[in-house]
Amino acid sequence: MAINMSRFKDKVCYVTGAGSGIGKATALSFAREGGKVVVCDVNGENAQNTVNEILKNGGEAIALTINIANRDEVESSVNETVKQFGRLDCAVNCAGVAGPVSKRIHEYPEEFWHQQINVNLTGTWYCMKFQLAQMLKNGGGNIVNLSSAAGLIGQPENSPYAASKHGVVGITRTAAREYATDNIRVNCICPTAIETPMIMEGRRKLAYNPEAKQAAINFQAMKRMGTPQEIAEVALWLCSDESSFITGSAIAADGGALA
Ligand SMILES: NC(=O)c1ccc[n+]([C@@H]2O[C@H](COP(=O)([O-])OP(=O)(O)OC[C@H]3O[C@@H](n4cnc5c(N)ncnc54)[C@H](O)[C@@H]3O)[C@@H](O)[C@H]2O)c1
Repeated sequence: MAINMSRFKDKVCYVTGAGSGIGKATALSFAREGGKVVVCDVNGENAQNTVNEILKNGGEAIALTINIANRDEVESSVNETVKQFGRLDCAVNCAGVAGPVSKRIHEYPEEFWHQQINVNLTGTWYCMKFQLAQMLKNGGGNIVNLSSAAGLIGQPENSPYAASKHGVVGITRTAAREYATDNIRVNCICPTAIETPMIMEGRRKLAYNPEAKQAAINFQAMKRMGTPQEIAEVALWLCSDESSFITGSAIAADGGALA
């Protein structure tokens, strides 16, 4: 990863879920383009690993261990961002969970409903709340949320995930309209299958189930899964001036699956 000071030179870029998968690829990409990166994750060791990788390559970053479902921790992390770097320009909210089980609604355990709504929806809303307050103070900014294809269509046997991700689309579109004249743009990305620990090791365990993995591959018209870097590229573009007329969009990054 060579540092290429271009689109995000001296921009302060805050990424949640940046210890793994899409969030990690996004944090590394911001750093590669000259951003000062705030690497947030509930897994502090993984957050620090991402920071170490950035520092090793000559970039600038700090690690913050936060649970986005805890509003005080989110508020403190935005305060710490401003204390360390003076402002907040870009926020990419990737932290999310997909729950441990696959069941239809009548059998779905209630505790995992609450877990996914608390993290994916309430947590993302807390992030936006404190990010937006700071962006108003510094005269503008860009927010990108990670929704999912499950924010656009149903996801059988994972109703809380679909509900939370549809909710992320709703708060994204609402914020886009609320802050459109404040120089703040808010968009979200709706990926299908991206090869990260979430789907390889998590609920769907695709790493251990070749048939399920093939089904996940076949869902895309391109007959492959996406890479974390392909989603990071969309996030950076949405945070850059190149997408200056786009706000309130829920962009499918899905290899043609929903086409
Ligand atoms: N991988 C996919 O196929 C896919 C598809 C569509 C959407 N998404 C969404 O993209 C985002 C990133 O997913 P990923 O695939 O990179 O997953 P991942 O599991 O590799 O990374 C998620 C990261 O979020 C962190 N995290 C989880 N709960 C947290 C919390 N409460 N507070 C702070 N950090 C927390 C985890 O520790 C982890 O580092 C998620 O919101 C996910 O729902 C992923």
